[in-house]
Amino acid sequence: MCGIVGYIGTQEAKEILISGLERLEYRGYDSAGIATVSEGRLNCVKAKGKLYNLREKLEQTVDNAQIGIGHTRWATHGKPEVHNAHPHLDSYLKVAVVQNGIIENYRELREELKSKGIGFNSETDTEVIPHLISQYLADSNISLLEAVQKTIPHLEGAFAIAVISADNPYELIVARQQAPLTLGFGQGEFFCASDITALVPHTHAVLTLENGEMARLTPLGVEIYTFAGERVSRFPRTLDWNPGQVEKQGFRHYMRKEIYEQPGVVRSSLETYLNPNWKLEENPDFSPINLGFSEQLYDNIDFIQILACGTSWHASLIGKYLLEQVAGVITSVDYASEYRYSPKPVIPHTLIVGVTQSGETADTIAALEMEKARREKLDSKYHAKLLAITNRTESTIGQLCDRIIDTQAGIEIGVAATKTFVAQVMGFYFLALDLAYRRRSLSNERIDSIITGLRSLPDKMEKILETQEDAIEELAHEFVKETEDFIFVGRGINFPIALEGALKLKEISYIHAEGYPAGEMKHGPIALLDSEVPVVAIAMPGSVYEKVISNAQEAKARDARLIGVTSVNAEEAGLTFDDVLNVPEVEELLSPILAVIPLQLLSYHIAAIKGLDVDQPRNLAKSVTVE
Ligand code: F6R
Repeated sequence: MCGIVGYIGTQEAKEILISGLERLEYRGYDSAGIATVSEGRLNCVKAKGKLYNLREKLEQTVDNAQIGIGHTRWATHGKPEVHNAHPHLDSYLKVAVVQNGIIENYRELREELKSKGIGFNSETDTEVIPHLISQYLADSNISLLEAVQKTIPHLEGAFAIAVISADNPYELIVARQQAPLTLGFGQGEFFCASDITALVPHTHAVLTLENGEMARLTPLGVEIYTFAGERVSRFPRTLDWNPGQVEKQGFRHYMRKEIYEQPGVVRSSLETYLNPNWKLEENPDFSPINLGFSEQLYDNIDFIQILACGTSWHASLIGKYLLEQVAGVITSVDYASEYRYSPKPVIPHTLIVGVTQSGETADTIAALEMEKARREKLDSKYHAKLLAITNRTESTIGQLCDRIIDTQAGIEIGVAATKTFVAQVMGFYFLALDLAYRRRSLSNERIDSIITGLRSLPDKMEKILETQEDAIEELAHEFVKETEDFIFVGRGINFPIALEGALKLKEISYIHAEGYPAGEMKHGPIALLDSEVPVVAIAMPGSVYEKVISNAQEAKARDARLIGVTSVNAEEAGLTFDDVLNVPEVEELLSPILAVIPLQLLSYHIAAIKGLDVDQPRNLAKSVTVE
């Protein structure tokens, strides 16, 4: 949450900062601000609400400064008001700081500073930082770098900071402790940002700081140090990035663009992970899946523990289904936020899988770190084998885990996850099939038929987009005025799709929605049903199809308007459902990848017709870097 940017070089900093913040706005949009240094003075401009408010304010100012920092905020400590917006300054208006993260001990620090007569202008945790730095600068004849170095040991929590000072116009200091921060290297100009999306328009040479590192950026170069002050020698890497990924490319919203990118993402993951030389008729003695993991990883896996949040948790529930039903390995999925405070007793030979699209979710990272640390103290058979399933391989989870499945989804900008969800589920198909092959839990014939089914998915996904969207948009009109509640039901491998359909709807349309296992409705939630509450049933032919249809009938008997996501023909579907969201035929095991698309489109159109901010729904952020 929150995005920070910094610039030092030969161009006007203002426009670079604000356009950088625009690319980070998905991380938070409660307020924004920038600070620059020119003629020995700090210029600080802040605005409440979305970034265009700050842009408007800045248009009325002249600022030629060539150094500056910026921030877009997702409020944690203190309401989203101008006085709580970053950058925060010291009492002499000499030091400006932006921060992403949380300073957990800010209350004590604040009291300590107050007892020394220092006044505060905000309720934020961040404001203690410029005051501490300022004290060190005042007390002794030290550089800005040294003052920040002396300040950091006082700070507890996870944070990334960028600091400038009116008296040091050629120095930008940054530090990272468990919150993302990447440096960009240009020609005589240097950048920092919470995410590389803000750097790619300027440079593809980047270096991600590690925890416990800080850097001094000057117009001449970048020096990296540990918090203890030791110089670190590291070199930037070159990004293989297509800036088009972060443009809307003619779509009204990123979310719709990303829904449309899904067939391509699935194609690309199939190309990456299916071994083209694996031919059933040749009776191959190697895995059809090419994840690049050694036998060692798979030897002795008795248990798989998956940790994730939100939509990634839903993808993980499908993962559990696949790992248990296809690969035959007992698997547990936990919310990372719960697991970190109530972990399971340790089981030997465990594969720990972290699933996250941002790669930065604080709870997921902390749960993985905790699991790794507690297991390292034990006998080696308990040591964690860590695997990340993510589209952001350069992120914190990428640094933490020894193995990664890069889901090939690229960056996702719409706050509601769509293509990354589908890509994570694909990651689980590959993992489950690789395990199934190596453990011989499925015959080669069965594996081959699943792979054939996987290969057919992109065309089928395209067909849904081509043939169903108009009808879904028309249907969406019926729910924009009076509908206050929605129920989504599914069973088996499609129960998580019910959860995901409900989450998509509530987060972008603000309509209350619940996802339930269809068979559980009669144990309570059925009491909610009447003609005002539409029920969406995911009824894909397969082992639980008849059961879902029976559960749907129970809802219909309570006057609920019944919407079916199904591949059965119109005549059969019409016997049960009032409205049908049709998807092509597919075997049940692969059906979640298709079933989720009409639900994404339904939520999208309801929110778009309501005129809501689809890509940046209220109160949310794309990268949840606070606990
Ligand atoms: C929902 C959504 C969130 C995220 C959750 C975890 O559309 O995007 O529920 O899935 O915040 O985020 P990651 O996957 O980045 O760990």
